[in-house]
Amino acid sequence: MCGIVGYIGNNRAVPYLLEGLEKLEYRGYDSAGIATVENGRLRILKTKGRVSRLEALIASERQSPARIGIGHTRWATHGKPSDCNAHPHESQNGLFCVVHNGVIENYHALKQTLQAQGVTFRSETDTEVIAHLLEQNYDGDFVSTVRKTTAMLEGAYALCILCRDFPDRIVCTRWGSPLVLGKSEEGCFIASDVSALLRHTNDIFYLDGNETVLVTAQGMTFFDKTGAPVQKQSRHLNLDVSAAQKDGYDHFMLKEIMEQPKAVGDTIRSRITKNGEIAFEDFHLTDDEARALQRITVVACGSAYHAGAVGKYVMEKLARLPVEIDIASEFRYRDPVLDAHTLVILISQSGETADTLAALRLANEQGAKTLCIVNVVSSSIANEGGSVIYTHAGPEIAVATTKAYAAQVSVFYLLAGYLAQKRGLLTGDAFRSYVRDLLALPDLIGKTLNDCRAQMEALSQMFIPLEHAYFIGRNLDYACAMEASLKLKEISYIHSEAYAAGELKHGTISLIEKGTLVVALCACSAVFPKTLSNIKEVKARGARVLAVATDAENAALSEVDYKVILPNVNALFSVSLEVLPMQLLGYYTAKNRGCDIDKPRNLAKSVTVE
Ligand code: F6R
Repeated sequence: MCGIVGYIGNNRAVPYLLEGLEKLEYRGYDSAGIATVENGRLRILKTKGRVSRLEALIASERQSPARIGIGHTRWATHGKPSDCNAHPHESQNGLFCVVHNGVIENYHALKQTLQAQGVTFRSETDTEVIAHLLEQNYDGDFVSTVRKTTAMLEGAYALCILCRDFPDRIVCTRWGSPLVLGKSEEGCFIASDVSALLRHTNDIFYLDGNETVLVTAQGMTFFDKTGAPVQKQSRHLNLDVSAAQKDGYDHFMLKEIMEQPKAVGDTIRSRITKNGEIAFEDFHLTDDEARALQRITVVACGSAYHAGAVGKYVMEKLARLPVEIDIASEFRYRDPVLDAHTLVILISQSGETADTLAALRLANEQGAKTLCIVNVVSSSIANEGGSVIYTHAGPEIAVATTKAYAAQVSVFYLLAGYLAQKRGLLTGDAFRSYVRDLLALPDLIGKTLNDCRAQMEALSQMFIPLEHAYFIGRNLDYACAMEASLKLKEISYIHSEAYAAGELKHGTISLIEKGTLVVALCACSAVFPKTLSNIKEVKARGARVLAVATDAENAALSEVDYKVILPNVNALFSVSLEVLPMQLLGYYTAKNRGCDIDKPRNLAKSVTVE
C-alpha cells in the first residue's frame, strides 16, 4: 500500500527520494510526491499517477540543492487518487509537512474541530489533520510537538515529518504501520520497507510502536514511548540488493516463481537438526504440551489463507488435531471461542496485514497460544505473536505472492511433522522418511519448474481470450485450486472460481457449457478416482479440461484435453509441485494479455487497512 521514504545527508536529496519511491512502487499506489527544505522553505511536489510522472514533473528538481526530504506513494483510502490528495500534506501556514501510512480512525472528529477553529482543508484525506494538528500543538520543540500530536490520534500511522523551523532534521514515529531506518556514509535513510534501504545499508533500525526518532545528517536519536532517549541496536540483514532487482527476468513475479526451490529449501533446511529432528528457533512444545492441545485455528488473508488451507489438511492428517481455518476479516468480528488449549496460527508474508494483526491481538487477549508464520523480519505480526516462525523466502516484490506462499506451505509440513512426532503419532522410520521427503522437496520443485515452464507458456495461449475459468479439486487439490484461481484472476483479470470438485453439481455445474475451460487439479492420489468422476461430468457437458496430476495417474487421464504431469512426490506435499504450473499459467496469461503483472490494478502488496 502506501510507501514512505526520507533522506538527510551530505548529498542532494531528490535523486535518493525518487530512487526510494521506485523501490516501493511494487507495494501498489496511485499517486506520489516529495517535499524538501530549501532556502528555509518547505517545497512540495506531488501528482496523481506513477513515480515516472512525478519524475517528469520535477525533472529540473534533480539539481535542487536540498539535502533533506521526504517522499510518499499513496494508495487511496480517504479521497480519490488526485494531485491534492497525494502526500505530502502541509499545515495551514506551511510550518509542517507530513507523509503518512495507515489510517487515522478519529480523523473526522479532529477535522470538524479544526474546521470550527478556522482551519481550511485542501484535501479529502485523513492525513491532513495531522499536519494541522502539528502546527496547532507547536511548542518550539519538534519532537515534543510530534508526541503531543500523536497522542491525539487513533488508528494506525507511520509518519515522517519536516518542519520549516528545523531545516536540518526529520522526525518520524509510528504505531501500527512499519518504519525502518538506516545510515551510511551518504547520510540517514528512512523507509516503510527495507527494500528501499538495501542499496545503502544492510544494518536496519526497526522503529517500535510509539517510539519517535529525530534524524539528522549525522545520525539518529531514538525516544521510547515515554519520550526518554533510548539506545537501539540495528539488525544486520543478510540480503543483497539483487533481492530487490529483477536479475534479467522480465518481471519480479517470474523471478520469484523461479526462486521457489531456494525459498522452500532455506525455510525447511534451517529447521532440520543434525540429528534429523524438526526444531524451530522460537516455537517449542514439550510432548505433554503438544498432547494437551485441543484445537488449532489458522487465520490469514488471501493466499496466506490458502496456505493455511493446505496446513489444515496436513496437520489434521498427521497430528490428529481438529484444525479450523478462517479469513482474518471474518474471524475478528465473529466473537471466536478461544482458550489456552487452542493454538492460533496467523500467517502473513508482510507481517502488517491489518485484519491479521487485529486477529492476532484478539487471540492474545483471549489467552490462546499464538504462533505467527511471517516473512518480513520484525514486522508487527512477528513482534506481537507469542511465537514466530519466519519463512525464509527473502523480499517478495511482485504483488502476487508465489515464493512466500510456497514457504508458508513448507512451514506447515514442518509443523505437522513436529506436532505429530510430539504427540507420538509419527515416530521412528516413518518420521525419518517424512523428513527425507521434506528435504527432497526443493529439488523436485526445481525440476517441476524446469519441466513445465515452456508447456505453461504454450497452454496460456488458450486462456488469453477467456472471460471465465473454473478450477476444481478435492482435499489438498481444492486448497491448491483456490490459490491457482486467485493467481489467474488477480493478474490477468480473467474471472475465475475455485470449487471443491464434489460441490460442482450442487449448482455451479449449470455454468458449464461447450468450450468452458475447467482446470482439474488431481495430484492428490487419495481422492484421484473421485476427481476423475467430476472430470467426466464436466466433459460430458462440453467442457475442455486441463488436468494437473502426478506421473502415477498419467495413464488414467486419457480422456482430458490437456495435461500437465508432475514428478511423483509424497502425497502430503503434492501442492508444492501442483501450484507451480498454476503460477506460471497466471503469469504467462497476464503477460500475453498485456497486464501490469507486478503491479496489478487496485492491488497493494501489504494491506494495512481493514
Ligand atoms: C495474493 C496475495 C494476497 C496476500 C494477502 C495477505 O497473491 O498476495 O492475497 O496473500 O493480501 O497478505 P500477507 O501475507 O502479507 O498478510
